[in-house]
Amino acid sequence: MQPVIDFIRSNYDRYFQELRAFCAIPSVSTKKEHRGDIQRAAQWVADQMKAIGLENTEICPTAGHPIVYADWLHAPGKPTLLFYGHYDVQPAEPLEKWDSPPWELTLRHGELFARGVVDDKGQVFMHFKALEAFLKKQGRLPVNVKFMIEGEEEVGSENVYKFLRQEKDRLVCDALLVSDTTMLGKGVPSVCYGLRGLCYFEVELTGPTVDLHSGSFGGGVPNPINLLCEMMAKLHDQNGRVAIPGFYQDVRPLTPQERKQLKALPFSEKRFQETTGAAQLVGEKGFSTVERIWARPTLDINGIYGGYTGEGAKTVIGSKATAKFSTRLVADQNPATITKLVKKHLEKITPKSARMKFTVHSEGDAWIAPFDHPLVQAGKAALEKGFGKKAVFIREGGSIPLVAMMYKELKKPCVLLGFGLPDENAHAPNERLNLENFQKGIVSLAYYYDEASRSR
Ligand code: BES
Ligand code: MN
Ligand code: MN
Repeated sequence: MQPVIDFIRSNYDRYFQELRAFCAIPSVSTKKEHRGDIQRAAQWVADQMKAIGLENTEICPTAGHPIVYADWLHAPGKPTLLFYGHYDVQPAEPLEKWDSPPWELTLRHGELFARGVVDDKGQVFMHFKALEAFLKKQGRLPVNVKFMIEGEEEVGSENVYKFLRQEKDRLVCDALLVSDTTMLGKGVPSVCYGLRGLCYFEVELTGPTVDLHSGSFGGGVPNPINLLCEMMAKLHDQNGRVAIPGFYQDVRPLTPQERKQLKALPFSEKRFQETTGAAQLVGEKGFSTVERIWARPTLDINGIYGGYTGEGAKTVIGSKATAKFSTRLVADQNPATITKLVKKHLEKITPKSARMKFTVHSEGDAWIAPFDHPLVQAGKAALEKGFGKKAVFIREGGSIPLVAMMYKELKKPCVLLGFGLPDENAHAPNERLNLENFQKGIVSLAYYYDEASRSR
């Protein structure tokens, strides 16, 4: 292994330049104007795969953004790892809140700044570099690998589902490997064994069919914004629980053992609060912060708008009001059931004076799995070698729709080795990746591919 590790350590400057080129492509999946950039990012990934020596590189078109595939399958008798990641990123706006340009990878105080640097371009790139080191120094890989890098993770991975079903044979593997999560904290390398699911909704209320003068009409007509606020206020009770009947019916309770394990983790509530800058932490009564964000379902309004929101004052009763809101789900909640319950409840609490339109944007399952499989344990061992620190098993509150989907379909272990930190501003201005975690992460991944070759 030493030549492989030495090769990695002597190439960090080149890695920076290459990652800079990848991050320079504004591959924002949610906006049509970036279609060309999406194509360019897919091409960059394909070129990179070829350059490091992967084979059968293919840019697979889908109904949405392309999926880039490549493999290297010359390690007979060794495990086959299917690596999954995404080259699409969130929009960079608001641009004025960035301290350096979002599409220019910049190193400042030991941190790499750029949109997508941690979520997920940088973490995908780390795998390329770990494999490149093996292929350059040994001419071969210790395991078989298949790579599947998609371009619409940030918008729900809809077309990847279809790809999975169509390409079942090509994607046969012993484990799914993902680097798209975070570590518990600096110096605490982490293997993730659980993600929450996500259902995303939109509700639109219409009062009058036209905007009205609030003097001439106010008091005599339904104001959809007033009504929507009342409705939204009814979605939680005083104990911070979601007040939709049946919402908790299928929730898998935390076992006393897991509660104990979670409590033993080096998680600082104080640090977590400081990261948010909020005056106080809140949440469901009876649960710790870690339990609330990893193991309990939640509901949050993500955006609410209507009426006049421009400069100054305008006395108007808007015709419509809209709220976007989402639920984070845990095992064993069923997204389709949750959608039904939410819809039914909204219909029930919509006043007669308003018309309601309900839209479902996306639905995805939670994922949780035991972590005793050798290919998962190999992850812990590899992180401990790479970081020289004890690694822990954690859950995450975020969602990666494909992981739940793959686990359900294939029942294969999913190995989530994440190198981000919770305060690195994924999806926000000044997204960053700690340089030391980037470098130690590549080394850890080289160790992982090696460890995996010796476990089954
Ligand atoms: N990498 C994240 C998932 C994630 C977030 C893992 C936080 C660990 C901590 C992923 O790119 C993401 O943002 N997922 C979306 C899913 C959605 C768009 C379907 C999410 O969680 O909101
Ligand atoms: Mn991601
Ligand atoms: Mn993301």
